[in-house]
Amino acid sequence: METAESADRYLQELLLDPDPVMAAVLERSDAAHLPQIAVSPLQGAFLSILARSVKAGRILEIGALGGYSTVWLARALPENGVVVSLEIDPKAAQTVRANAAASGVADKVRVLEGPAAETLADMTERGEAPFDFVFIDADKTGYPAYLDFAVALARKGALIVADNVVRKGEIANSNSSDAMVVAVRTYLEKARAHPRLQTSVIQTVGVKGHDGFAISLVG
Ligand code: SAH
Ligand code: DHB
Ligand code: MG
Repeated sequence: METAESADRYLQELLLDPDPVMAAVLERSDAAHLPQIAVSPLQGAFLSILARSVKAGRILEIGALGGYSTVWLARALPENGVVVSLEIDPKAAQTVRANAAASGVADKVRVLEGPAAETLADMTERGEAPFDFVFIDADKTGYPAYLDFAVALARKGALIVADNVVRKGEIANSNSSDAMVVAVRTYLEKARAHPRLQTSVIQTVGVKGHDGFAISLVG
């Protein structure tokens, strides 16, 4: 029987070029003993299409891991574009820098090490130039706070995309005692109530199991 995973593999093979650079990014992440929780190749391409569709020149990423999604996003940028990527784990941050360099996008990737909430507060205070695209993928309990920062740092017309918001369907469980489910539910409720945001969620299946992306347009 065919499965969501086999369909995912078929679609990847059909739609994406073989990509030794991205394969090497994942190998470097594995060599650094980082967990294998990056977005899938098709999801990376999806993020790239979204970033390009808003002509993103400045991208904010919250949660970089080894930089797999970072490199996908960096490749979506025009010349002089930048991905500012926030990462708490120094070993991961180093891997992102190595991966960006090896992938030919070192000049487009800025890794800011530390807890994202602190970095975002600093950026907001300092009047950081607005971002066109925000990808939220760090600690799930931080998502509600990251949404406020993302809106504050985004230009009108920006997209805010958040990974892992369906959680095998547990998002529908209003009695969940899982702190990550509770936080993601809060994130979606906040997005729903925010006067500047139009929000939807696309559920995903495939090599990463049943999950989903939230997407908000900043009006
Ligand atoms: N976006 C990556 C995957 C990110 S995994 C990709 O798809 O390739 C989540 C990352 O968030 C991990 O690297 C973890 O160290 C980081 N993280 C967790 N808590 C954080 C925090 N408070 N601030 C910044 N980064 C955090
Ligand atoms: C997992 C997957 C993710 O995409 C993520 O950002 C964090 C954790 C996981 O499968 O555990
Ligand atoms: Mg994720």
